[in-house]
Amino acid sequence: MVDLRGRDFLKLLDFTPEEIRHLLKVARGLKKSKHEGTPHNYLKGKQVALIFEKDSTRTRCSFEAGATDLGMHATYIGPTGSQLGKKETIADTARVLCRMYDGIEYRGFDQTIVEDLAKYSSVPVWNGLTNEFHPTQMLADVMTVEEEFGSLKGITLCFCGDARNNVGNSLMVVCSKLGMNFVCAAPKELFPEEKLVETCKEICKETGGSIRLETDIMKATKNVDVLYTDVWVSMGEPMELWKERIDLLLPYQVNKKVLDNASDRAIFLHCLPSFHNTGTSIGKEIFEKYGLKEMEVSDEVFESSHSRVFEEAENRLHTIKAVMLETLKK
Ligand code: CP
Ligand code: NVA
Repeated sequence: MVDLRGRDFLKLLDFTPEEIRHLLKVARGLKKSKHEGTPHNYLKGKQVALIFEKDSTRTRCSFEAGATDLGMHATYIGPTGSQLGKKETIADTARVLCRMYDGIEYRGFDQTIVEDLAKYSSVPVWNGLTNEFHPTQMLADVMTVEEEFGSLKGITLCFCGDARNNVGNSLMVVCSKLGMNFVCAAPKELFPEEKLVETCKEICKETGGSIRLETDIMKATKNVDVLYTDVWVSMGEPMELWKERIDLLLPYQVNKKVLDNASDRAIFLHCLPSFHNTGTSIGKEIFEKYGLKEMEVSDEVFESSHSRVFEEAENRLHTIKAVMLETLKK
């Protein structure tokens, strides 16, 4: 019997495969209720605080809309407008907020900050993205993969790009935990940290999963079931990094040639937001400076029938609700 009441949700390394599967099952139920219009305000009267030191569309909206669906009220605390950081430490903020709220979400910088917040808070703390991990994203990702293929067993997922960022790290962890095959296609400089790779390889011994790191994109993506990529420069990293990252990662772009190399049934996933055209201010700036119209994924693949990025984005809502429900319920 899985019981997650009162637990923090800081990184997937802290959870057993059974606990992760349980959250996915709850998310499937919540998705059904949402689609059928069945009320599910199981947490009526509770309140959550959402701290965002970095921008967000999906995560913020999933926590806010999800809290409302579950009968709760959410307070958004953005990068400016509160005392956090300038006049008040994370420890003091945690000790204040947990006297007013039933749960706290944090999106920001070092993983140590969210771990500290949890240490000083008497209510559950949820990681909405740090530099190292993005655990709520992973639940939506594997939910989408399972919806597509009916099961996760034996599925091979290849992450192409900056594999030592929060999304790359977390994908390697979730694949290991759920017995999937994780492949990374990246230049050596951007391979995930060796210590995390070793930890995941140990987990794979128990779960039947596997980890493979490749510098050759065609070798990495041959016959894979899931192609996954993320932005080449993450939030919090300097704009000056773009030139270096373009040089390093252009060979790892997910384009038609890569898609054709994958399995015929392959799907494309991306946590979003994505630079697949010049429709954004950063996209335009990169085009003007470097002449690139699309970056980590070509527009052709992003818009193709293999793309499941918007199903994946929707699943952020259902999975984040599952995390709030299971950790806050009585
Ligand atoms: N994928 C994701 O976390 O998106 P946001 O940055 O919009 O929350
Ligand atoms: N790696 C990206 C993920 C965004 C959801 C970032 O941290 O900006």
